[in-house]
Amino acid sequence: MSIVYLNGEFIPIEEARISVLDRGFLFGDGVYEVIPAYGGHLLRLREHLRRLQNSLDAVRLHNPLSVQQWMDVLQQIIKRNDAVDQSVYLHISRGVAAKRDHAFPAETRPTVFVMSNPLYPMDKNDLMQGVAAITLDDIRWRACNIKATALLANAMLRQQAVDAGAAEAILIRDGYATEGAASNVFIVRNNILITPPNSPSLLPGITRDLVLELAQQQGIACDERAISESELKHADEIWLTSSTREILPVITLDNHPVGKGVSGPIWHCMIDVFQDYKAKLRRGDMRDE
Ligand code: PDD
Repeated sequence: MSIVYLNGEFIPIEEARISVLDRGFLFGDGVYEVIPAYGGHLLRLREHLRRLQNSLDAVRLHNPLSVQQWMDVLQQIIKRNDAVDQSVYLHISRGVAAKRDHAFPAETRPTVFVMSNPLYPMDKNDLMQGVAAITLDDIRWRACNIKATALLANAMLRQQAVDAGAAEAILIRDGYATEGAASNVFIVRNNILITPPNSPSLLPGITRDLVLELAQQQGIACDERAISESELKHADEIWLTSSTREILPVITLDNHPVGKGVSGPIWHCMIDVFQDYKAKLRRGDMRDE
């Protein structure tokens, strides 16, 4: 049975209850993080907590826990759930107000919720088969750098991709690729790894930063710059990155093959380096906090 954390208590998920007046429920008024843990070791915890703080600041929510308290809660959740690898979801909403009103109430106690799901990372042979993606107009708001729980646009875009038999939607704003519905996007052109720079148009992905760091260590040329829709469509390789999907090669875009229509050589190099990084973390050979 899955054990979750809700407002100071560790309880079975079936017993977790929140009020219907919770602003997270009524307005999607909250922020969240998803942090992978390999063999009990959280990946890039400090970076995730820093991004959480940025999201909280942006929506004017006080951080209810200190860094040490977050570390303790997250470690407890991992210990109390048995999967070797887990994806830990943490969520802070503005809490319960006396009545429904768009403006923030003068005083609320944030609702703090943490749960864990088993993470079954695919091995290289499965991953290298790649996935299909489609391009869609980025209909989201202008503050996509905030990891907000209000994800209706992202959910609608992902569903449109699923309906089209694809694994992800790559979003286009004003003629440029921003990111996936729940992932960051990279392309390879002429052996250069390119990803859009961080801006309010996209989430500053933790996996994105790690991939850039590891690629640079491998001597792969990297460029953080805007990717036009036409450049995306003519890319040699396209990858999607996220905490749960890691590095996923896209082999068809809008039903056309990407490059040669198979996962490309730079992806093959990066996935080995990334799997190695995870294996070291899982074995406890390296701390990533
Ligand atoms: N989402 N962009 C969006 C819109 C995302 O939702 C995510 C991740 C990312 C990748 O960020 P990171 O590498 O830090 O996971 C980019 C998570 C996994 C989710 O919502 O479940």
